[in-house]
Amino acid sequence: MKIAILPGDGIGTEIVAEAVKVLKALDLKFELEEAKVGGAAYDAYGHPLPEATLKLAQASDAILFGAVGDWKYDTLDRPLRPEQAILGLRKALGLFANFRPAICYEQLTHASSLKPELVAGLDILIIRELTGDIYFGQPRGRRTAPDGHFPGAEEAFDTMRYTRPEIERIARVAFEAARKRGKRVTSVDKANVLETFQLWKDVVTEVHQKEYADVALDHMYVDNAAMQLVKEPKKFDVIVTGNMFGDILSDEASMLTGSIGMLPSASLNDKKQGLYEPSHGSAPDIAGKGVANPLATILSAAMMLRFSLNQPEAADRIEAAVKKVLAQGLRTPDIYSDGTTKVGTREMGEAVVKALG
Ligand code: IPM
Ligand code: MG
Repeated sequence: MKIAILPGDGIGTEIVAEAVKVLKALDLKFELEEAKVGGAAYDAYGHPLPEATLKLAQASDAILFGAVGDWKYDTLDRPLRPEQAILGLRKALGLFANFRPAICYEQLTHASSLKPELVAGLDILIIRELTGDIYFGQPRGRRTAPDGHFPGAEEAFDTMRYTRPEIERIARVAFEAARKRGKRVTSVDKANVLETFQLWKDVVTEVHQKEYADVALDHMYVDNAAMQLVKEPKKFDVIVTGNMFGDILSDEASMLTGSIGMLPSASLNDKKQGLYEPSHGSAPDIAGKGVANPLATILSAAMMLRFSLNQPEAADRIEAAVKKVLAQGLRTPDIYSDGTTKVGTREMGEAVVKALG
């Protein structure tokens, strides 16, 4: 089993280092190979996703990814910005199925900005389609407006589009996931306005009727879904949606748990090859200070063991160890509260290694 280690920028290097310690402590046989990605790769080689990094990712069973981005790259041409590394990996490896769980850990219930009773026990899974939609739709670009409110003015445009097979496969991923949990799927769309999402709704409905009648399905417009997520988040089990809406709703859902520093994610292709990364970003403001929370990355490594490396027991061990360090009262600053023990990135990682037993 080969794992590509791509720490990236900002706190990425610090948190990935802790997840690697945890992986090494498991006593499994992996080959780990590290490469630069994002701004770090741009600085070293002039490109955020160098050929060598892409080749390594393609040749690996799984990728453990930190985070990319820093304000200092915001003025680069778009193809050279750090974000293009993650978009390029998603596209090149066909990582169409993005799993973003939002789980409220018992000890962190009070950290949510919502009332504790609204989030206690929260366990939602957002399945975001990751290689289509307005993110990748062609054509896109800038031009002189041919018509509209200001013909002849400078204009920019993107294209929202989905094909039937893209919707079918992500719908199946969501229904399969729901079968292993609460057996409920909410498909989020904007079928009242957009053709793309009328097709989405029709296809999800068909896949449901033909193959997954045992799972409950409902449909929700995205604006209503955004509202329901803060009104009654526990009503949801699995949410399935497109790339753009999933980007927004998954950030919203992550905050319900009070701790974006705790949330892992997985992006899979049809061969179960996957990219695993924390749901948070590179946080350049706290980079290098040793205070970042490594738990989201450590939990991403657990998802990697379960989904791509067929090591469910090792995944369980990591998840149990994380619960144990929380129960011990260890907290990085992002999840700290009175009466708990404040620790840094490295101490947290080492505590998890110790808790593996
Ligand atoms: C995410 C991020 C990315 C996205 C950015 C960094 C391109 O926000 O993974 O949610 O928009 O998909
Ligand atoms: Mg996002």
